[in-house]
Amino acid sequence: MRVLLTGGLGYIGSHTAIALSAAGHHVLIVDDLSNSHREVIDRIEALSGCTMPLLVADVRDEVALLGFLHDHGEVDVAIHFAGLKAVAESVANPERYYDVNIGTTLALLRAMEAHGIADLVFSSSATVYGSSKSVPHTEASSVGTGIANPYGKTKHMIEEILRDACAANPDLRTTALRYFNPVGAHPSGMIGENPRGFPNNLMPIVAGVATGERDEVTVFGHDYSTPDGSGVRDYIHVQDLARGHVLAAEYKSKGFEAINLGSGVPSSVLDLIRAYQEVSGRNIPYSLASRRPGDVAVSYADVVKAERVLGWKAEHTLLEACRDDWAWQQATARKPLP
Ligand code: NAD
Ligand code: UFG
Repeated sequence: MRVLLTGGLGYIGSHTAIALSAAGHHVLIVDDLSNSHREVIDRIEALSGCTMPLLVADVRDEVALLGFLHDHGEVDVAIHFAGLKAVAESVANPERYYDVNIGTTLALLRAMEAHGIADLVFSSSATVYGSSKSVPHTEASSVGTGIANPYGKTKHMIEEILRDACAANPDLRTTALRYFNPVGAHPSGMIGENPRGFPNNLMPIVAGVATGERDEVTVFGHDYSTPDGSGVRDYIHVQDLARGHVLAAEYKSKGFEAINLGSGVPSSVLDLIRAYQEVSGRNIPYSLASRRPGDVAVSYADVVKAERVLGWKAEHTLLEACRDDWAWQQATARKPLP
């Protein structure tokens, strides 16, 4: 199949590009480099041994997108990774988040219609479960209530837009993959999470302490009703996520479908710090602080549907994700990029 990846030079997109290529699919990428780096394409091509056409443009630049699709022939499936994902930034600048995340989705839908592309895989998030306490979250758990920030709201709104678009157009098939907490890196150490600006997520912060760039990890909350008092999440190796996208791209959904991609294993903040300490051999000091506003105590996935529908389940452990992230931090992530 020929697969268009929007945001294909980003963290999850770059790993997915390699996995798709390894499965025999042809990959085309559009990315505006707003949170990635041009040389990621060289690394993806080196690791996959394949050339991948790249359009450096905003997905909302419909002239450029349509021209790219026209020049590169038929596409069977689009995977929509492109978007903004920094939770705190979305609180400070909500209009930008609604504009980019929803605008790119609408532009992509129009381009798909113009080019007869019937299948879409969308990067959704466990954030759509909001304040729902029904853990583990199944795809039937309530969504949309108590989502604490504009970023999360865009994911829920986009799911609703795609649901309506599928209802209106019986030819359109959409799978919304609800990722839990993506972590880890490609085992080569050549690609991983390398955002522009400062990271906000736990593993890059823990990695920064292991490398000595930060003094300590601030643990947000130590009084949750969890085994050690810190927040509990479902950390999923990015290589498992990438494989999930290959299967989702090959799957023919019935209209709109949502599928969780998580490990199904609950782990606390302190579990992750311990695991990273073990693989890195570095001391990772931390201090206990008050809860971060908007955080839920516990979030992890019910993974039955992914296995039933896609034949997918996570294969990598949190320890393996820490090991691969540590290799990436040492080999590549800290090297300066233009
Ligand atoms: P990322 O920022 O690394 O990748 C997104 C890519 O999209 C980047 O390369 C960026 O340059 C590009 N991009 C952004 N806006 C664009 C635009 N208007 N036009 C073209 N390209 C654009 O993020 P990621 O971690 O790989 O996440 C991919 C998707 O998965 C995002 O939609 C994100 O919201 C979603 N998601 C991520 C997580 C996570 O924790 N990483 C969790 C749940 C969902
Ligand atoms: N945490 C700390 N200290 C830090 C950073 C995080 O203790 O410095 C804790 C948080 O309080 C939480 C856990 O680590 O308990 C995970 O936090 P992250 O910020 O890494 O991830 P979240 O679960 O808050 O959110 C992530 C993504 C969202 C996505 C959501 C669900 O950032 O984009 O998972 O998929 F929506």
